Amino acid sequence: MTDALAALRDLPRLLLAHLPTPMEAAPRLGALLGLASLRVKRDDCTGLGLGGNKIRKLEFDLAAAQAAGADCVVCGGVVQSNTARQVAAACAKLGIACHLGIMRGRLSATEPGYEETGNILLDRLYGAVIHNIPWDEDRNARLHGIADDLRAEGRRVYLVPYGASDALGAMGYVVAAEEIIRDCPEVAWIVHGSGSAGTQAGLLAGLLALGHPARVIGVDVDAQPARVRADVCRVGREAAALLGVAGRWEDDRVEVAAGWSGPAYGVADATTEEAIRLAARCEGLALDPVYAGKGMAGLIGLARQGRFRDGGTVVWIHTGGSPGIFAYPETMARLSR
Ligand SMILES: Cc1ncc(COP(=O)(O)O)c(C=O)c1O
Repeated sequence: MTDALAALRDLPRLLLAHLPTPMEAAPRLGALLGLASLRVKRDDCTGLGLGGNKIRKLEFDLAAAQAAGADCVVCGGVVQSNTARQVAAACAKLGIACHLGIMRGRLSATEPGYEETGNILLDRLYGAVIHNIPWDEDRNARLHGIADDLRAEGRRVYLVPYGASDALGAMGYVVAAEEIIRDCPEVAWIVHGSGSAGTQAGLLAGLLALGHPARVIGVDVDAQPARVRADVCRVGREAAALLGVAGRWEDDRVEVAAGWSGPAYGVADATTEEAIRLAARCEGLALDPVYAGKGMAGLIGLARQGRFRDGGTVVWIHTGGSPGIFAYPETMARLSR
């Protein structure tokens, strides 16, 4: 039998994540939402650096960095970036220097500890060098400036894209698509938080290559659904090309659900808070208010709209982000009452 993912197997890859991640039944939450069958794909349990969806992507991006002979990685992200944390942990494990361009000031208001705990605390723990970049400056130029300065010192630099969301990073979610349909071949819907687009792009490209009809709904977490969708289309098409199935890619299959991002990136609303509370109290899950809480709010909202009325199995992906819980003590205290 031919391997539909033969092109993926030929790519350089590091084994960084604990895979396959567990696929759990979520019967109490499923019943509350009127779903015939709800499963949770535990990508918060990828292991390295407290886990999350980026570890899968970094298996491919950092393999490319090593193949290019890099001795130094540069990556940009906000203070509570999960990508930055996972890059820092992976670099520590690989013995590669990690320089993070940490962008400060994206949120108009933050809660006590936001600037020092959660992900940023772990970035430092894993030994990353932190370069502060004000959000309202030319962020890309500043990030490239960090890389240029390191090159001028003789370092061989590899720039990991925002969210590790290039076509190579998306290959991590082709692997996830394969795991999901192996564990749950009857899956009809896959739902998850979507932001820099690599997760959704990889899932779609993987399902396309594998010829599986499951629908993927990315829940916009950035309060920028049109931008997220455009990025999923672009990265997804590139990922499909890497897999040799670009000719079958259709933008029409790309669905990004709007309405559950709260008022802005990094700001929770009542739907986020209800989602975090329900997931915790029905299934013992720990969701953050920035990503997974919004992804779950989307699942709940879509279920209430009757979107899964066909009775098909729904897989919700817990994409990680739990360290961010500790950067939102007021939100978490309010919703935990
Ligand atoms: C915990 C978590 N979930 C979901 C996402 C969104 O994934 P993607 O950026 O691949 O769209 C992110 C991105 O930073 C994240 O950190």
